Amino acid sequence: MNAPASPSPVPSPIKGEGQLALLSVLDASVVFTARKGLFAAARVRALDGVSLHLDKGESLSVVGESGSGKTTLARVVLGLQRPAQGQVAYEGKDIGRASEGQLKEFRRRAQGIFQDPFSSLDPYMTVGQIVEEPLVIHHVGSPAQRVDKVRQALEEVRLTPVSEIAPKFTHQLSGGQRQRVAIARALVLEPELIVADEPVSMVDASSRAEILYLMRELQERHGTAFLYITHDIATAYHFSQRIAVMYLGRIVETGPTRQVIGNPLHPYTQALLQAVPEPDPANRFRRRGMLAGEPPSPANPPAGCRFHPRCPYAFEGCDRDDPHLLEVTQGQEAACRLWKGLTAGARLTERAPGSAGEGDDRKPPS
Ligand SMILES: Nc1ncnc2c1ncn2[C@@H]1O[C@H](COP(=O)(O)OP(=O)(O)OP(=O)(O)O)[C@@H](O)[C@H]1O
Ligand SMILES: [Mg+2]
Repeated sequence: MNAPASPSPVPSPIKGEGQLALLSVLDASVVFTARKGLFAAARVRALDGVSLHLDKGESLSVVGESGSGKTTLARVVLGLQRPAQGQVAYEGKDIGRASEGQLKEFRRRAQGIFQDPFSSLDPYMTVGQIVEEPLVIHHVGSPAQRVDKVRQALEEVRLTPVSEIAPKFTHQLSGGQRQRVAIARALVLEPELIVADEPVSMVDASSRAEILYLMRELQERHGTAFLYITHDIATAYHFSQRIAVMYLGRIVETGPTRQVIGNPLHPYTQALLQAVPEPDPANRFRRRGMLAGEPPSPANPPAGCRFHPRCPYAFEGCDRDDPHLLEVTQGQEAACRLWKGLTAGARLTERAPGSAGEGDDRKPPS
């Protein structure tokens, strides 16, 4: 494994102005051992030194292709998966060292919404029971108060009339309605943080925009912090204030959503954006460009920059040096050697060949 070009900054739950983030993931790595054939096993580094912060009420999208480690990150954030290295801190407290009581409190304040509303909801419980269950587990309210809270949560996700929907079983609902039940269940405890892992990827296309819009509305109304996980960078644009782009277990670019989408710094982010379908009257789903090839296996990541075998701008040394995140413009960081030594405010598209110190053999991105 190659060493980074220079040491990464030491991560801390304290942000710039001495402020404590609601959630901090600090240099977290997760390694799985996957069976390979009859006798061999491969070590898969699903997360590799990931750090991120989320403030109260803030929304952050995590975007990446299949296998980039998004679900592993969601599970780490929710305390469902312990990182092999690094830590997750909630208001500065390491949840890996929390007592049973603190962990229960954390589980009340941080809720998850998962990809598959078919398997994440109990088929033997009614909608009303499913939404009430977290209140029962956390001993919230009297039975009458709980009924009120369930009614309110179902109304908020527009599963109305409540008296008709609450006695139903989930198999009697559409995929979109089921995901609304999952959202109501997450909301009912009035959490401070919601982690939504691909919440609309298994919902029929006609309900997707509606559900995303609903989640955004609820996030704004309640001031809930949101970690929205998706493979679709286009939905991230509408949903979040900040974006983190993942590739093979690492964050390769992060920054304010408008900046990252308007001026992507990492060639992988550029490729993801080029793969977004463009509305076209002749062919509604014409793609402007596609990302060539499949991502390599995280069991055997390429040496140097992990993206270099697919990168159209790879140059001398990208197969050896493993870049870490560097702030390029204000609040926008990229892990790419193209940006080493470039001044703040530069645009990837404006670079002339050899304009940035070393590496005259760097190809300017078009
Ligand atoms: N329990 C596990 N055992 C072995 N390998 C695993 C396990 N869970 C995940 N992995 C591997 O870790 C890597 C990251 O998986 P993860 O599910 O986090 O990716 P993802 O970005 O959520 O992908 P998708 O978009 O397909 O949901 C993949 O290579 C996956 O095969
Ligand atoms: Mg996933």
